[in-house]
Amino acid sequence: MLATAARMEKLKPAAKAKILQHKIIASLFFEPSTRTRLSFEAAIQALGAHVIGFSDENVTSLKKGESFSDTIRMVCNYADAIVIRHPEAGSAQRAAVVATVPVINAGDGAHAHPTQTVLDLFAIQQGIGRLDDFTILMIGDIEHSRVAHSLSETLHQFNNVTQRLIDPRQDSYTPYLKEADVVLVTRVQDERFENKTEAEKLRQSYTLSVDDVKQMKPEAKIIAPLPRTSELPTTIDTLPQAYYFQQ
Ligand code: NCD
Repeated sequence: MLATAARMEKLKPAAKAKILQHKIIASLFFEPSTRTRLSFEAAIQALGAHVIGFSDENVTSLKKGESFSDTIRMVCNYADAIVIRHPEAGSAQRAAVVATVPVINAGDGAHAHPTQTVLDLFAIQQGIGRLDDFTILMIGDIEHSRVAHSLSETLHQFNNVTQRLIDPRQDSYTPYLKEADVVLVTRVQDERFENKTEAEKLRQSYTLSVDDVKQMKPEAKIIAPLPRTSELPTTIDTLPQAYYFQQ
């Protein structure tokens, strides 16, 4: 996939536009999104397909009591594939069970975010030049981060990757900054906390400062799925390690 992605990056727009010509792709977003939805929809259009869908379930017949599985079944009559984001873990799997077209999981609750992992792997490969023999430090709301879950699971398929996952409420990440080749920083997933005081406690426990970043290797890269809140201050954006916007 990564080799194909690198090849496709170099294709001319006209060649790209043939890949999904005459296809219709459904983009079903039951949960807020900026990057994932817009990057999927931009990709669908760049590849020559048409996109249908919604970014707010309140404008659909789910509001009239239609079930999730009926919604998915219906969409299969209109589209050649479905991209789905949903707040419940396992929802993409539930869609796939009733769907007659391929279903792509664009994030299901705190469970998984496989296409973000493709992007993370691509960014790591481009950023540090390899996907084996490196150390990654993941800082943030690891428990609720589907991004961390999917990436961590996938990195086991590569050789000699050391993973350190830090919940900054419990442990300091600063001693590990020096050895990291990649630092993934995730925000507090407020929407997945029942106890808002805990969310606030976590938020107060980490902000990657300019001094933190200066401890990192000059060639190391900071990646992040975004959105960012307080954990990645704008003061570090111009440092050479900041890679999240390029990503
Ligand atoms: C992430 C998500 O939605 O899981 N964002 C993304 O897809 N790029 C991370 C987040 O919301 O914090």
